[in-house]
Amino acid sequence: MSFLFLGPEDRAATMRAVFAREAPDVPFFEADDGVVPADIRYLATWTPPADLAATYPDLALIFSTGAGVDQFDLAALPPAMRLVRLVEPALTGGMVDYVLGAVLSLHRDFFAYQRAQRDEVWQPGPMVAAADRRVSILGIGALGGAVIDALRPFGFQLAAWSRSPRDLAGVTHFAGERALDDMLARTDILVCLLPLTAETDGLLDARRLRAMPRGAMLVNAARGRHVVEADLIAALDEGHVSQAILDVAAIEPLPPGHPYWRHPNILLTPHIASVTDHAAAARAMIANIRRHGSDEPLVGLVERSAGY
Ligand code: NDP
Ligand code: OXD
Repeated sequence: MSFLFLGPEDRAATMRAVFAREAPDVPFFEADDGVVPADIRYLATWTPPADLAATYPDLALIFSTGAGVDQFDLAALPPAMRLVRLVEPALTGGMVDYVLGAVLSLHRDFFAYQRAQRDEVWQPGPMVAAADRRVSILGIGALGGAVIDALRPFGFQLAAWSRSPRDLAGVTHFAGERALDDMLARTDILVCLLPLTAETDGLLDARRLRAMPRGAMLVNAARGRHVVEADLIAALDEGHVSQAILDVAAIEPLPPGHPYWRHPNILLTPHIASVTDHAAAARAMIANIRRHGSDEPLVGLVERSAGY
């Protein structure tokens, strides 16, 4: 029944306090607590140790401390060990704020006006009404779905892409790889909120970036590897993509000299679109431990065959 957290001390202290208060029946351990590996039933980590399954043979649930699970080797986990990604309101709320800020800044041309300011140019540009702006979301899971709900009241022409067909009020939906180009062709602002899997790795390459109309804009708040970075730089240099807001890069921290650092049409943030609140994460994990104990469906259970 014991829970092990593998991660920095300050986060462990935060989580330990929540477990002590809200789940005193679940003993909480850190790696240096003299833990007996065979006693660990639940484990939470961002960076899984290579020998996870062999070291903790009785693990029932492995919690990612983030929404993403691309850092786990799913094939190396025995079927009995279930992997759970983080789905909870604080993480979702952070992403909603970030994407709303990004989409509205792009929609109202803040970056073009910032460049004009540097050149001391006072020149109003045309204003595009929200009803004439086509905003498309790649991935409408926990985060993409909440982003859609937050964008809806602004009156944009919304579209969304996922693997499975969906019926979303006020949203033109596209399902599956073959439909993606159709959505890209009607996109002014593209927001990526996909998980990184074998299918989505390198998805936004030169061809797909070009499938968007000239001048389209990109927000990537998912994983750097969704975008082929050299292709994005080329598309920005040619003006086919006019502006990108990027929270993530293929290699993080971004290496010195990487073209993202100084590109005039990129706004870069250091993977902060949403940041795990470890107290909220601990509560979400406790809720899942309770569900597991009473054989209820887990929130955020990873479907191994899909990779997310
Ligand atoms: P979910 O698993 O809830 O949703 C994933 C969505 O992507 C689903 O709609 C799914 O389709 C769709 N999808 C997956 N694969 C494909 C595919 N091959 N083709 C089309 N659609 C696909 O994920 P979350 O919303 O919780 O998180 C998304 C990602 O955001 C995380 O994996 C993580 O990488 C990133 N993230 C980034 C953060 C940051 O700070 N930058 C913070 C938190 C998360 P379907 O609905 O059909 O299953
Ligand atoms: C996450 C992240 O996956 O922070 O939660 O990127």
